[in-house]
Amino acid sequence: MKKILITGGAGFIGSHVVRMFVNKYPEYQIYNLDNLTYAGNLENLTDIENASNYTFLKGDITEEEYIDSIFLKYKFDSVIHLAAESHVDRSITDPLAFAKTNILGTMVLLNSFKNLWKNDWEGKRFYHVSTDEVYGTLGETGLFTENTSYDPNSPYSASKASSDHFVRAYGETYGMPFVISNCSNNYGANQFPEKLIPLFINNIIHNKALPVYGDGKYTRDWLYVVDHANAIDLVFHKGIDKETYNIGGFNEWQNIDLIQLLCKQMDEKLGRKKGTSAQLITYVKDRPGHDLRYAIDASKIHKELGWKPSVTFEQGLAKTIDWYLENKEWMERIVSGEYEKYYNKQYQ
Ligand code: NAD
Ligand code: TYD
Repeated sequence: MKKILITGGAGFIGSHVVRMFVNKYPEYQIYNLDNLTYAGNLENLTDIENASNYTFLKGDITEEEYIDSIFLKYKFDSVIHLAAESHVDRSITDPLAFAKTNILGTMVLLNSFKNLWKNDWEGKRFYHVSTDEVYGTLGETGLFTENTSYDPNSPYSASKASSDHFVRAYGETYGMPFVISNCSNNYGANQFPEKLIPLFINNIIHNKALPVYGDGKYTRDWLYVVDHANAIDLVFHKGIDKETYNIGGFNEWQNIDLIQLLCKQMDEKLGRKKGTSAQLITYVKDRPGHDLRYAIDASKIHKELGWKPSVTFEQGLAKTIDWYLENKEWMERIVSGEYEKYYNKQYQ
């Protein structure tokens, strides 16, 4: 029986990955390690919290003794590592927190995994979930491939790039079997409303301004979170040791076009007159060091592992909006706490 440690499983992407693994693989034991920062929320997993193959462990990946102790106790044979500080704007105000969690935390996990299995790597795997932001920014053309040089620009992407390098270094130095994937911007249910799409959905519901950074002409590739979880499942089971897989939606949008589409769908869902939500669009001061464009060449995972997105952006966005409208209490509980302080500071 496989014993898989999934880190950051109470967060946005992690909760979708935990749910998929718990439901799809009843023969695996899934351990979700999360210290429940502002972004971690066990409400994301109430549907599977009592499953017999699921255990929640509350703990911090930067605490060496604790991490060593759980590896010794549970003897995880695989790790799927998602725990991280994940928001670029927060990395600009508090870069050290990103270095601690994303770099040191990853190293602590790598070290405990190495100490446990260094003489017996057979059947073991460390899967590091990373971001396309490690590649830096593109101009008007071109795509990130697995061979693009790392060139991170924000403290967030620099910390993720560093963690990717350490994973690779443990593979080369200690023979640790690993895979890495670098994915584009995710959207979907359970995303914390600091990221563009859930923030704007919530603001539209409450008739609040939609703060568009700079001229709004920044471009991102967007992927529905369930499709990312499907890709993680494939890479975990079928990915080749020491390989990197780029994951993306073949779905580039300039921010302002995406926001217009979101406003249109929100007007329809809320029964508001066409054009109502778009009136909330407000251009604000740009993010420092704002990367112009991310775009992913996901042909390797498509050709080698047969993965492709299951929904179009219009379908995924509609499902996402429906989820937020049907789960207003989830959002209300989040925005009634510390969130307000963050919001006022960020958008003062
Ligand atoms: P998230 O911020 O929603 O969740 C992160 C989770 O990690 C939270 O549950 C949090 O409590 C937990 N965590 C943070 N610090 C921890 C610590 N010290 N110890 C234990 N747990 C800790 O993030 P997300 O958007 O779900 O991203 C998950 C992973 O995927 C990250 O590694 C991120 O870099 C990567 N990624 C995200 C995106 C995206 O669009 N969101 C895209 C590509 C890659
Ligand atoms: P975000 O969701 O923070 O993801 P990332 O920075 O990791 O790509 O932002 C997506 C894009 O939306 C990015 O170009 C920044 C922009 N943005 C805004 O214009 N306003 C906002 O309030 C936020 C949060 C993001």
